[in-house]
Amino acid sequence: MARTLLVTGGAGFIGSNFVHWWLETRPDDRVVVLDALTYAGSLSNLAPVWDSPRLRFYPGRIQDDTVVRGIFLAERPTHLVNFAAESHNDRSLLDPGSLILTNVYGVNVLLEAARRHGIQRFLHVSTDEVYGEREEGLFTEKDPLEPRTPYSAGKAGGDLQVRAHRIAFGTPAIITRGSNTYGPYQYPEKLLPFFITRLIDGRKVPLYGSGRQVRDWIHVRDHAAGIGWALEHGEPGQIYNVGGGCERTNIEVTRRLLELLGRPDSLIQRIEDPRGASHDKRYALDTSKLRALGWAPEVPFEEGLESTVRWYRENETWWRPIVESPEYQSFVHRYYGPYLGQDL
Ligand code: NAD
Ligand code: TYD
Repeated sequence: MARTLLVTGGAGFIGSNFVHWWLETRPDDRVVVLDALTYAGSLSNLAPVWDSPRLRFYPGRIQDDTVVRGIFLAERPTHLVNFAAESHNDRSLLDPGSLILTNVYGVNVLLEAARRHGIQRFLHVSTDEVYGEREEGLFTEKDPLEPRTPYSAGKAGGDLQVRAHRIAFGTPAIITRGSNTYGPYQYPEKLLPFFITRLIDGRKVPLYGSGRQVRDWIHVRDHAAGIGWALEHGEPGQIYNVGGGCERTNIEVTRRLLELLGRPDSLIQRIEDPRGASHDKRYALDTSKLRALGWAPEVPFEEGLESTVRWYRENETWWRPIVESPEYQSFVHRYYGPYLGQDL
């Protein structure tokens, strides 16, 4: 039967990739996007599907109960997938409280609306960072929540709202916890797009501390498919890790980017770690639970990295206006100014 998906945060990086993929592969379904279009969200991310008669867009914030209620009444979504979040660790250090309305309270508003309207599935997109850091082994879904940054603490708060609604009201909710994601349409503030766009311009890239921190990378197409798989095949009340199983240190990833872009090692600027003690050393996920349902990541990291670098090279019209915007410049100056000085 045809479904109507309400995709909140669908104009951001992973959300928009998910929307493209869903409309392409599920020809009977409608997708309704609710997005506040913060600095990180843009309608240009939905350009490839903008003309689809099966897409509807509403501007608005998930914490705005009136907006959310209105959309539920007008569109009668059968499924909800929540991507909306303040999603950047570095920004969360500059202004730790500002994310709570979206990452915690907003999740509650969505859950309440879903409960009133009897949603079939509520999928909350979360992150491996809620588990905290781990020097060895892999995080499983049973591990305790031990977030260490304002961002990950906010995400953990959202996860706990979902858990409580599942227990108290029987909401058919699922949580996915994804690992570090990369690919097209990623706002150029996270490691990969930040470094790629700076290296294209021949600028220095600020590597935090030792550069030996480890991240488990997943291509956005695989992450979107994992979320979709959990939505269609997952069991309500369950949590599913969605990781690429591809661990790399930051210095390894940076060196590879320099190679791909033909830039010298001297563009690496090692800086004192701006995250200080809250910088998680390593994330790595055990994804056997979702794999047992039939999902597996398909994009090898090397290939994904090359195609992502190519995408940024070919889509300067997408990122150039962002990096030249006053909002972006102000963030970069405020956060990196003390470390990069003249090399900003
Ligand atoms: P993003 O910052 O690119 O996108 C977030 C989107 O949410 C933007 O379009 C923004 O406008 C929208 N938004 C923000 N506040 C909102 C609000 N109050 N109401 C409605 N819309 C709002 O983030 P992303 O990287 O695409 O991440 C999406 C989700 O996936 C987040 O929940 C994040 O925690 C999670 N996640 C991200 C990664 C990653 O590596 N990027 C990894 C695991 C999990
Ligand atoms: P990031 O992409 O912000 O994701 P997360 O904090 O969710 O892991 O950062 C990935 C890693 O790269 C993290 O260890 C911090 C490091 N990093 C840098 O060294 N320099 C940078 O300019 C950025 C943005 C990140």
